[in-house]
Amino acid sequence: MPHFLDSVPFSGIIRIRDMMYAVERPFRLDQGDVSFDAPDSVKQGMVTAIADNRSHYLQTSGVPRLQELLAERLRAKNHIPVGSPDEVLVTNGGIHALYILFQALLEPGDEVVIPDPLWPPGAGTILSARGVVVRYPLHEAAEWRFDIDELAACLTPKTRAIYVNSPQNPTGGVLTRGDIGAIARLADQRGLWLVSDEAYEDVVFDVEHVSAASLPGMYPRTVPVYTFSKSYAMTGLRLGYLAVSDAALRDRVRKALFFTTSNVASVVQYGGIAGLEGSQDVVGQFRAELQSRRDLFYRGIESLGGVFSGRPPRGAFYAFLKFDPEWRTRVDPATLEAAAARGQEGVAGFSSPSWDLTAFLIAAGRIGCVPGVDFGPGGEGYLRFCFARERSELAGAIESLRNIFRQP
Ligand SMILES: Cc1ncc(COP(=O)(O)O)c(C=O)c1O
Repeated sequence: MPHFLDSVPFSGIIRIRDMMYAVERPFRLDQGDVSFDAPDSVKQGMVTAIADNRSHYLQTSGVPRLQELLAERLRAKNHIPVGSPDEVLVTNGGIHALYILFQALLEPGDEVVIPDPLWPPGAGTILSARGVVVRYPLHEAAEWRFDIDELAACLTPKTRAIYVNSPQNPTGGVLTRGDIGAIARLADQRGLWLVSDEAYEDVVFDVEHVSAASLPGMYPRTVPVYTFSKSYAMTGLRLGYLAVSDAALRDRVRKALFFTTSNVASVVQYGGIAGLEGSQDVVGQFRAELQSRRDLFYRGIESLGGVFSGRPPRGAFYAFLKFDPEWRTRVDPATLEAAAARGQEGVAGFSSPSWDLTAFLIAAGRIGCVPGVDFGPGGEGYLRFCFARERSELAGAIESLRNIFRQP
């Protein structure tokens, strides 16, 4: 019997992951995971929590000390006027925060306008709450920012919320204070919620990160969402949070939090406390290293002579590159034939120009990447490469690309 979840797509990134398991010595530029390890402060906090038998049920919203530290961080760093620490809810990573928020916010059929392209679970968490996704375009020519009139044209009487994600996955676009102000005014005029996914708040290169809820009067209608995954290299540990000013919405989010996890793993929360209490130098060190890796990767891409094009992003750690639709003319016919013989072009059910090139790069070059179309129709014609991998892995991927593509 069909079920509505059948119509909610799994991200194609999962399919790529499966394909990569079959590849020997792969270059894993497909996954959005940093190669760094969690800071020592976090690890020590978890070790101590285990020794202290912190293995019991906790408050659903989070360990009070962690809520307190997060409220303080939101005030001091993000300039969000959080009142009480109770407004902060601790979640099992950012994806869980989005999931419970949309469960709490949406009635079936409510529309949420989201950027095209966008990290697939953005749409998936809305669809899972029986919401409807309406996409507003981002434009490469505008450094992957939006046009406010196009965004406004997506609004209907059924619109409940606008989703913004800055810095952005997959494009690396960073919205300016002016952009966020324009969205904030629109949300305010139309009585809409603003969901502000700030997973990459600490990964900005020489530009400011602006939290939508910090704009005057916006916190009551804005829900900012954060994660420790990227800032503290804690992807597998699963720690995130959101702040909800509105008491009725917060009660609903807390219910969804309770029913999905009771409380987030105690040991991980104590790791988060230690991470926030310890030195924050590591966050800046990660950022500086990511900037160097970005530059290294883009130098390599330029050396391919036009197979891929795009400007280095100002935030996040992805290269979202347009590919030459005639890329096959740059490949040795024997290499094309060998890849086709392995059945790697036009993967069943996932056939499109960006899927074709992704499958080819996996087969011919052992290079993992994600087809742009997986992020929305506006992403067709692009591939996403993650440059948060070790420098040696990035260099290996570039060398592999150089071997595949002949100079024009
Ligand atoms: C835009 C965006 N938001 C949220 C997340 C959530 O990350 P996590 O669930 O690991 O905290 C991610 C992870 O890749 C992301 O790219």
